[in-house]
Amino acid sequence: MNIPTIKNLKLKNKSVLLRIDINSPVVKSKILNNPRFEASAKTIKYLLDKDAKVTIIAHQGRKGDKDFTSLEQHAKILSKYVKSNIKYIPSLFEEKAKSSILSLKSKQAVLLKNVREYEDETNLKLKDNRYPKFCKLFDIYVNEAFSVSHRAQGSIIIPPKYLKSVIGLECESEIKALEKFKKSKAKSKVFILGGSKAEDYFPLFNFLKNKNNKLLAAGVLANLFLIAKGYNLGYESQWLKQNNFLPLIPKLKSIYTKYENQIILPLDFAFLSKEGKRVEFTLENAPFKYKIYDVGKNTLNLYKDELRYTDYIFMKGPLGFSEIREFSFPTVSLLKTISSLTKNKKLFSLLGGGHLNTTIKKHKIPKNFSYNSLSGGALIKYISGEKLPGIEAIKNKKWI
Ligand code: 3PG
Repeated sequence: MNIPTIKNLKLKNKSVLLRIDINSPVVKSKILNNPRFEASAKTIKYLLDKDAKVTIIAHQGRKGDKDFTSLEQHAKILSKYVKSNIKYIPSLFEEKAKSSILSLKSKQAVLLKNVREYEDETNLKLKDNRYPKFCKLFDIYVNEAFSVSHRAQGSIIIPPKYLKSVIGLECESEIKALEKFKKSKAKSKVFILGGSKAEDYFPLFNFLKNKNNKLLAAGVLANLFLIAKGYNLGYESQWLKQNNFLPLIPKLKSIYTKYENQIILPLDFAFLSKEGKRVEFTLENAPFKYKIYDVGKNTLNLYKDELRYTDYIFMKGPLGFSEIREFSFPTVSLLKTISSLTKNKKLFSLLGGGHLNTTIKKHKIPKNFSYNSLSGGALIKYISGEKLPGIEAIKNKKWI
């Protein structure tokens, strides 16, 4: 691997800007713990053990979304894993952050404000972007956020232009493992794509050119395919419109027409009854004026069946709202099946995305998966052969 890592550096007394990804599911304003904390903690500990002064930056959610929150709770969770206090500083480019960074001693770390609070992060065309000036406070930049490295955003691509830059420990193992998957010689592959980030999945449609490969859709992607097929999903159609997903429909329509036999869609759905119970309906009888919470049992069985004929499974995103008790069992059951197939049939299984990791941890699903990536969109781009701006920015620096 031709990318400089923290192992290549002398860190004593160095001021390190560390970009991590601890973006997590949020339920009732509570940040759910997920393996990204533990993974990031390893690198933080490594840096502190080597006497560095560590300033951590990260994001949570996207502006306008329900999970767009402060990083205060994240600092507490991180502190537990690092076993050292990581102070939360509600500031980034302002004076408060600057004075905290400058007063850091070696073996100390702080976590700054959610970078996505600032346009400097999300709008690279912004005049007078403050990242270049901010970088002057540091000696070294570490990218420990493989999972955001597909985003050409401020904290990912600007620091490598100004600072000696390397990747972190987890980022290094992720790249090594994904390289192995890219080289896999599997005859047939199944892609199970759920959750809400449907736009991330487009690079994977290229895999359908091989007639042996299949796509099992759930969540937003499944809803979009159904709308592309002519269904009116009522509540979900409105939601998709409000959240700007409808422009994806023409492309999905042409993908579906081309690969109809390889794209499997849900047969039934689960809703929340007035009494707060799970109720299931077939696709044709579903009360679509209500919100869809999950796929139904028939869909689960159909998807499990499809797994029997493959030797490579990729799953990203849950089948439904798996963080809610009534709607967790299809995702949990499918993950258990993948886990045992991996163990018994020795097939390749690659999982991605924060939600699945949280589900695996919460439901204590045996971790037989071949590789459990902490990334989602970045992972997809990487296995599809696309270049990640955050990794390229570091790879192309010739300072070592
Ligand atoms: C993720 O959770 O996949 C990463 O943190 C990236 O988040 P984003 O899709 O909001 O950029």
